[in-house]
Amino acid sequence: MHTERVTVPFVRSSKVRNGAEPLSMITAYDFPAARMVDRAGADMILVGDSLAMVVLGHADTLSVTISDMEHHTRAVAAARPLSLIVTDMPWMSYHTTKSEAVKSAARLIRAGAAAVKIEGGAKRAKVIRAICDAEIPVVGHLGLTPQSVNEFGGFKVQAKSVEEARRLIDDAMVVQDAGAFAIVLEAIPDILAKLVTAKLEIPTIGIGAGIDCDGQVLVFHDVLGLGEAKRPKFVKSYAELATLGVEALSMFVKEVRTSRFPAPENTYHDATGEIANLS
Ligand code: KIV
Repeated sequence: MHTERVTVPFVRSSKVRNGAEPLSMITAYDFPAARMVDRAGADMILVGDSLAMVVLGHADTLSVTISDMEHHTRAVAAARPLSLIVTDMPWMSYHTTKSEAVKSAARLIRAGAAAVKIEGGAKRAKVIRAICDAEIPVVGHLGLTPQSVNEFGGFKVQAKSVEEARRLIDDAMVVQDAGAFAIVLEAIPDILAKLVTAKLEIPTIGIGAGIDCDGQVLVFHDVLGLGEAKRPKFVKSYAELATLGVEALSMFVKEVRTSRFPAPENTYHDATGEIANLS
């Protein structure tokens, strides 16, 4: 459990091979979720653009804007967590010019993030460097990068061939050299994640990338079993809160219909005893 705010240097130096504990990162998109993740002691909160799918019900992450990410970052930051807040830069907030990318990243920092996350390898190197040069820490993201869903033809495991695996290793080195302080590896073979983790000086945070990463990240709603959709293989749900939630909501509906709610203890009574005499 953290007693002080988690910092970027702490995360940057958290390599398991150097004796660090594996890092934990959980998404949160609002104040109560951020409070819960922080109370659970997670090292990092990711305000992920997965909010498009998890919270807003879209089929992919492409619909969220920099204003949406700002809005949700503000809600998370209001919880004043000790966990480090990392916010995803949404699609098209860093794909045009370096100056546009730096301005977008600055909006997220002003909204309360301590760092931003950017998807992509070598082709994003200049943008990552420019954002780092503006004193904004960057987390990279390789493998199944959801903003490339149309290019990939769906949410599929990546880097399954030797050629793709080699490209991913090169990308990881470039992203590190560009200044990233950690890299998320999503949906790639575990042996490749192990190799990348061994090559890098900065920590890897896996999601569907096996046990050998320097940390793991999962989506809040998946951990708690809050989503109704089919969950990918790499998800482990530690509770089934959607089921519990529907049970609780059904009890409310039933108690309203049978006039059992509100009970006297849920009701304000007339302290003077005189209101009943009003006509
Ligand atoms: O947006 C997100 O939740 C993410 C994680 C899946 C790493 O990028």
